[in-house]
Formats: sequence, C-alpha cells, structure tokens
Amino acid sequence: MKPIETEILLGVNVDHVATLRQVRGVTYPSPLHATEIVEQAGGDGITIHLREDRRHIQDADVDAIKQNSRLPLNLEMAATTEMQAIAIRVQPAECCLVPEKREELTTEGGLDVTKQADYLKDYCAALREAGITVSLFIDPEPAQIECASAVGAPMIELHTGAYAEAENSKVKQELARLVKAVDLGLENGLIVNAGHGLHYHNVKNIAAIPGILCLNIGHSIVAEAIMTGMFEAVSRMKRLMLTARREGAGNR
Ligand code: PXP
Repeated sequence: MKPIETEILLGVNVDHVATLRQVRGVTYPSPLHATEIVEQAGGDGITIHLREDRRHIQDADVDAIKQNSRLPLNLEMAATTEMQAIAIRVQPAECCLVPEKREELTTEGGLDVTKQADYLKDYCAALREAGITVSLFIDPEPAQIECASAVGAPMIELHTGAYAEAENSKVKQELARLVKAVDLGLENGLIVNAGHGLHYHNVKNIAAIPGILCLNIGHSIVAEAIMTGMFEAVSRMKRLMLTARREGAGNR
C-alpha cells in the first residue's frame, strides 16, 4: 500500500468471514470470495490474521487469497518461527506482528517491542530480506514507537482499542494520545496505520487524523455486511421455496 498524501486507505480484515465458516465446519462463506467484493467496493487491501490456533483463517485461505486477490495482502501474525516461515513462503506485501494469547477473544493489547527489541530486530530483518514490509501493532506509547523504529520496522499500526472502548471525557484523551503517536511515528520516519475496534460510529475521528495511511477494520464491516445483506438473503430463500412448491406440485 503506497503512501498517498491526502487519501486514506482501507484495509479490510476478513477473518470473521472465516469465523462463520469454521463454526459449522463447512466451505462457505469464503474469505476469498469476500476479497473480491472488497475490491469491487473500493477496499485498498486485505488483512487476515493467521492465528496459532487457526480459529478462523486457515493456511489454505492465506495461499488462496495471496494467489487470487489483486489487492495487497497484510498478514497479521505472532512473531513465531512457524509464522515467519509461512510469511517467507507466501510473500504477503506486509506482515503485521501482533501479540497473541490463546485464550483471548481478539488481539488484546499492542506488541511490547521494548521487552523483545533484540529478538524483533532479527525477526524483522529476516522478513525485510524476503521483501516483506514489516508493521508492528503497538499501543500509542512513545517508548513503543521509538523502539519500533530502532528495531528496523518501517511501519507501525497504532492500536485504537483503548479509544474505541473509551467513554465520555476519556474519548478526547485517547484521541489526543493517538494524534501525538501519529506525529511521533512520522517524525521517526515510520509509515503509520491504525486499527482495532473501529466501527461506523467512531471511525471519523481517526480517519480525520492527518498522517495515518491506512485503517485496518474487520469485525464492524463483517457485522454490517450481515445486516445489509439480510433482506436479500431472506427474500431469495423465500422465492426459492415458493418456486419449488409451485413447480413441485406440477411435477407430481
Ligand atoms: N488490526 C489488528 C492488528 C488486529 O489484530 C485486528 C483484529 O484482528 C484489526 C486491526 C481489526 O480489528 P477489528 O476486527 O476490531 O476491526
């Protein structure tokens, strides 16, 4: 995803299309099919998180999306040896390194870059050598931003979860923290993205921050897609049933 000065890009996370498929152990809905619709609708990139427990996106999805989607792929993953090998084989445009806990419902906090700087330096270098742009998913904390730059990551994604969960006066506080973090990221020569917990009612404040290149949004878009598509889905099923009843009666 190339920086454009006044434009802001949307990376659509299609993990929860896979969630719906995995809860039934069937072959639909297909995250790959979703990427085609994302492209038609003006989405700028596809984000998927290949979790260690494979609870939604599967290895085959990563390959299928990389091979068939025309949009740049941002592969979110934990900084493990297993994931590094997968990334180097698949060659996504970007890899976003996230912390991962098995029991969490979703990525809970940002990566603590300061605690594992030496490890991440080597980890990022291997991905860079493979031609992959590395992004670090971090809280909007000055120490994390400076350390991200020090370990050689060219890109960060600021965790917007605290902003999304804030209420009343805390909203302004969290927004101010993000604005400062974006500025500090840019001063350190980093490309700055943001995401997590963004939805139709809270995205405007974040989209308006100058300097953010891309917002990665998943859950709210998939949830909205279910509701905006429900009318068509129900009426199509009802039409099919009525037609079958009429035609079936004629066939007997
Ligand atoms: N960015 C990162 C790094 C994430 O881990 C996630 C969740 O997978 C998202 C963005 C998207 O968050 P949400 O589904 O809340 O929009």
